[in-house]
Amino acid sequence: MYAAITGWGHYAPEKVLTNADLEQIVETSDEWIQSRTGIKRRHIAAPGQATADMATRAGLLALEEAGLTAKDIDLIVVATTTPDLLLPSTAALVQSKLDAPQAGAFDMNAACCGFMYALSAVSAMVRGGGVRRVLLCGAETISSYLNWEDRNTCVLFGDAAGAVIVEASDQPRGLQSYKLGAIPNTAEMLWVKAGATLRPMNQERLDNKEQLLQMNGAEVFKHAVRSMVDGSLNVLGQVGKTPADVDLMIPHQANLRIIEATAKRLEVPMEQVFVNIHEYGNTSAATIPVAISEAARAGRLHDGDTVLFAAFGGGLTWAAGVLTWGK
Ligand code: UT7
Repeated sequence: MYAAITGWGHYAPEKVLTNADLEQIVETSDEWIQSRTGIKRRHIAAPGQATADMATRAGLLALEEAGLTAKDIDLIVVATTTPDLLLPSTAALVQSKLDAPQAGAFDMNAACCGFMYALSAVSAMVRGGGVRRVLLCGAETISSYLNWEDRNTCVLFGDAAGAVIVEASDQPRGLQSYKLGAIPNTAEMLWVKAGATLRPMNQERLDNKEQLLQMNGAEVFKHAVRSMVDGSLNVLGQVGKTPADVDLMIPHQANLRIIEATAKRLEVPMEQVFVNIHEYGNTSAATIPVAISEAARAGRLHDGDTVLFAAFGGGLTWAAGVLTWGK
């Protein structure tokens, strides 16, 4: 039994924030942002629009592509680090919005790696026979955690959702190998310090903006390339392949320089690397499913193609996978 991706969809909020808009908010420039990150604009959720809303929109498109309705789904998983609520899960809210009463629902939080962690888990569940059809979303409303006075972070992130349907198949399609990792003692390199059980919110923490995302970008950068390269070589090796066998690489979109450095070390030509960071910025767990959806819609994925995924993010976590494309 295999677990093929049979549907895909993505959604980004209508509101677009360009680099020129950010020049009005913090001391930055279009030139700095583009040359250091590759980002030109990002989409920002409307007031009141949260992660479940975006995940639902992407999910509906994925269901349509797969020729399914919400009633056909056994399980809904949302990979997110920006849930609508601490309780219940965002997936439970998506289940109600989609009207999928027979589906189980849970969230997966591995920060920017959440989608790859969830794809690994869900594919194993489908291959094990416990579930047949899963709606897997990667969705984030990072804008609600951004400090709009901190130019080190606010220019980098955006909001979006991507979704795939993972379905049981007797064809050798879907995830063939995966490797998941986490680097000890790196939590404070990328975190939201307060607002949960360790540091409940109080006035002092609010005044210090500890409810907002903080990042040591340069340190994260160092770990990012190394872990994406090592992870990629590991998952390719597991299936007896090399970077030369990769038809399309879909990396986490955090910084164009990280993507280029990773591709260079792997010797995968940039023409075979999917990049959309210019349009969305870093949308954390949504980057890979949005990229899958865009790549599929652009005709860049063909039946039997070898697709390499690599991601890293808060934790610090990292993840990689090799997938054979096709329904
Ligand atoms: O999904 C995982 C999420 N995290 C990441 O992907 C982060 C990975 N790291 C990065 O992408 C890069 O480290 C950044 C884009 C965050 C920063 O790029 P960098 O080339 O590492 O710049 P830097 O941190 O070394 O900063 C260079 C300078 C600093 O000025 P000084 O101290 O040299 O005078 C910063 O203050 O650039 C300054 N700077 C800015 N200038 C204009 C930082 N942010 C900005 C900005 N506009 N937005």
